Amino acid sequence: MSFDLNSLLRPHIAQLQPYTSARDEYTGKEGVFLDANENPYGSVTDAEFNRYPDPYQSALKEKIATIKNVRPSQIFLGNGSDEAIDLLYRAFCRPGIDNVILLPPTYGMYEVSASINDVETRKVSLTSDFQLQTEKIFDQIDSNTKIIFVCTPNNPSGNKVNRADVLLLLKQFNGLVVVDEAYIDFNDEPSFTTHLDEYPNLLVMQTFSKAWGLASLRLGMAFASEELIKILNKIKPPYNISGLTQDTVLEALGNQDKVEKMILEILKEREYLQSELEKLDFVKKIHPSQANFLLIQVPQATQVYNDLIDQKIIVRNRAKVLLCEDCLRITVGTREENTAFLKALQAVVKPIQP
Ligand SMILES: Cc1ncc(COP(=O)(O)O)c(C=O)c1O
Repeated sequence: MSFDLNSLLRPHIAQLQPYTSARDEYTGKEGVFLDANENPYGSVTDAEFNRYPDPYQSALKEKIATIKNVRPSQIFLGNGSDEAIDLLYRAFCRPGIDNVILLPPTYGMYEVSASINDVETRKVSLTSDFQLQTEKIFDQIDSNTKIIFVCTPNNPSGNKVNRADVLLLLKQFNGLVVVDEAYIDFNDEPSFTTHLDEYPNLLVMQTFSKAWGLASLRLGMAFASEELIKILNKIKPPYNISGLTQDTVLEALGNQDKVEKMILEILKEREYLQSELEKLDFVKKIHPSQANFLLIQVPQATQVYNDLIDQKIIVRNRAKVLLCEDCLRITVGTREENTAFLKALQAVVKPIQP
């Protein structure tokens, strides 16, 4: 396979002259800054936010690079992973002409973002145990297929996808393979970032929203070849990551011990939740999970879902999703939250059962 990133790129993006921000034109730290129309007196808050942040988040990328064992030039940071997804469509998919391949049931934003960008989605369902149907995927590919989105561990099923199947896509597909690893920290397999130097068509997404507990800050990572990262940087809004987010995450990265402890706690609670659910006859299926949630099948799932809400227990109703008939997705909580859920579940299911 010969992969040529430039031939994949939309021609007007290749020609695009990107915006150069004030902080692009002068990158020094010292001086009298009269270049960005900022407020010289400070901020209305106690902390100072009056200066624009680093548009390329250099300090943060340096630190992430060491932790993730990649080069800073291989990292794009977005306002959540969702920003990277949107930018990929905008860079590579011509509206009304190009298409992408989605593998349902999977994370919903791949499709929503395609719709926003007027890009056709070709769907190849996963197997009943949520693995890839590679032959069927290859059947769907044509010369306008630009991206295949693979989510592993997959949301909402929770399982990891067979690595060999993803590698086959990387080897044989001439477009981009996006591997979304939002739940990688709960998984026992190495990241696909270890394959970045082998496959120029690979882009790996991770996020600070899950294991790191920083969902509210909105910080998603994309790892890819330097060439591909340059394209995303060229089309992103200039200051897409706030200074507050950059500073807070930089500090958080020094707390890896704490993250590891939280991950272990979540894994322990996942096991607890699973073993307690196994004791309940009305739980028809608990899908094996490598993530921080469990997908379970219960009779009359939508009614159970609504009854749980009445008890102020909120889970995700996936009952109408392909291959997830009568399924609820339960995020692993603290021991207190998990026992509250289990208690409420038993209370609401008993009256439903005939
Ligand atoms: C598979 C997957 N990717 C990405 C995201 C979103 O990540 P972020 O918060 O970084 O936008 C989610 C959130 O639920 C997800 O499940």
